[in-house]
Amino acid sequence: MTVPIITVDGPGGAGKGTVCKRLADKLGWHLLDSGMLYRLLALASINHQVATDNERALQVMASALDVQFRSLDGQEGIRACLEGEDVTDLVRSEDVGMIASKVAALPAARSALLARQRAFAEPPGLVADGRDMGTVVFVDAPLKIYLTASVDERARRRHKQLLDKGQSATLARLVEAIESRDKSDMNRPIAPLKPAVDALYIDSTSMTIDEVCQHILDKAAERGLVSL
Ligand code: DC
Repeated sequence: MTVPIITVDGPGGAGKGTVCKRLADKLGWHLLDSGMLYRLLALASINHQVATDNERALQVMASALDVQFRSLDGQEGIRACLEGEDVTDLVRSEDVGMIASKVAALPAARSALLARQRAFAEPPGLVADGRDMGTVVFVDAPLKIYLTASVDERARRRHKQLLDKGQSATLARLVEAIESRDKSDMNRPIAPLKPAVDALYIDSTSMTIDEVCQHILDKAAERGLVSL
């Protein structure tokens, strides 16, 4: 049986995480947050003091990565555990994101995470969030989205998220971090961030989350993936 898959790729801060979670909840489908896997690998490399250019060690670590995803009653979103410890908040930091971007540039680490990502494709369907979901991991997905927004808007959204969590950050520093991560994700030789040739391009700069979700659901309905 073919499992319907919607892939959502794009740069950090474009709203992929929120959009994918809403779509998965609305459709009752599984959710793959592939960035979280790279972030967990990055954290494991810090914990075990493995250098981000030690490709062989990172490949071994990626293959054996001891991670669990679970949802907790009364808490929004999925919690991630690394080696038995809940590290959800820690892995979402900008610093871990930068290291994730570095380990994600290593071909051996990427291929070691492939099977783990593909295993998320289970009935009744999957919403897959990442950078190469439509170009590498699920090339046959019947609906591929490339979701982006201007750098300034992405920095403003990240800023708000951090303030809401009681963390501080300056907008200028966030713009810098976003530009640096875009550069590294878009220019790496392996699985660079780019729209799949058959992706639907959505610029969310002046769209609400609801509008983006509705647009994707309409396309999914048009293609017979869901009935609304
Ligand atoms: O989506 P995110 O910010 O949580 O991702 C963290 C890093 O992981 C991102 O800078 C690039 C990398 N990544 C990737 O290379 N491929 C994916 N499918 C998802 C994330």
